[in-house]
Amino acid sequence: MIHLKTEEEIEIIRENNLLVSKTLAEVAKHIGPGVTTLVLDKIAEQFIRDNGAVPGFLGYHGYPNTLCISVNDTVVHGIPSKYELREGDIVSVDCGTNYKGFYGDSAYTFEVGEVRPEVKRLLEVTKEALLLGIEQAVEGNRVGDVSAAVQRHAEVNGFSVVREMVGHGLGKSMHEEPEVPNYGARGRGPKLQTGMVICIEPMINLGKKHIYMEKDGWTVKTTDRKASAHFELAVAIGKRKADILSTFKFIEEVLEEKRR
Ligand code: MF3
Ligand code: CO
Repeated sequence: MIHLKTEEEIEIIRENNLLVSKTLAEVAKHIGPGVTTLVLDKIAEQFIRDNGAVPGFLGYHGYPNTLCISVNDTVVHGIPSKYELREGDIVSVDCGTNYKGFYGDSAYTFEVGEVRPEVKRLLEVTKEALLLGIEQAVEGNRVGDVSAAVQRHAEVNGFSVVREMVGHGLGKSMHEEPEVPNYGARGRGPKLQTGMVICIEPMINLGKKHIYMEKDGWTVKTTDRKASAHFELAVAIGKRKADILSTFKFIEEVLEEKRR
């Protein structure tokens, strides 16, 4: 069942996603060679609690941390650890909050220092694919229109789309219907309508699409050990234009500042 949200509920989901966006920007300040992923996790947890919310992932199906931190060939759901980031790594940071009974959920893939040009291109294309998907998130379209837009952009650029994990509805639960795959056919799938809130989250691989799960039951990696990127935003379906509830603005301001 798809839960349609009232305008008031959408505002609460927006508050959650703004906090997620600001938390990711706080994490961005600390990303660099030598930093452990566990340190980043603690920074995020503190920031979320200081803002009166609760980490959305912590304890979710037994998940042990605030962030999912997925380095290089880890696609998603990497568990924070004593691993120290290194120059040339890419690191996907996925963050969720719970506040006033609703969830926020977004992710961004960061570069650690200088990364190889083809990896840089993977990040660019994955983010662009997400934005092209969002353009389709309007009333009257179907989930397949979003999926097809994401898939096309990834594949025309020579990358591959992870099949097993998908975007999702967002609300009082972190994962609601509908599922939002990053591959599919235009005109197929559930109809989009005002009141729906969905997370679009392409997971795009540099090499082949195949993945496997580590023995810890969480960490998902590429089978060919090549890099994978992940960007996620929450959007409310709009009449003519999607209403993007999370933002990369705060993150990109931090990245701009770090470059100077
Ligand atoms: N953003 C992640 C997703 O949509 C949520 C991970 S929750 C966790 O799959 F508990 F598994 F970390
Ligand atoms: Co998600």
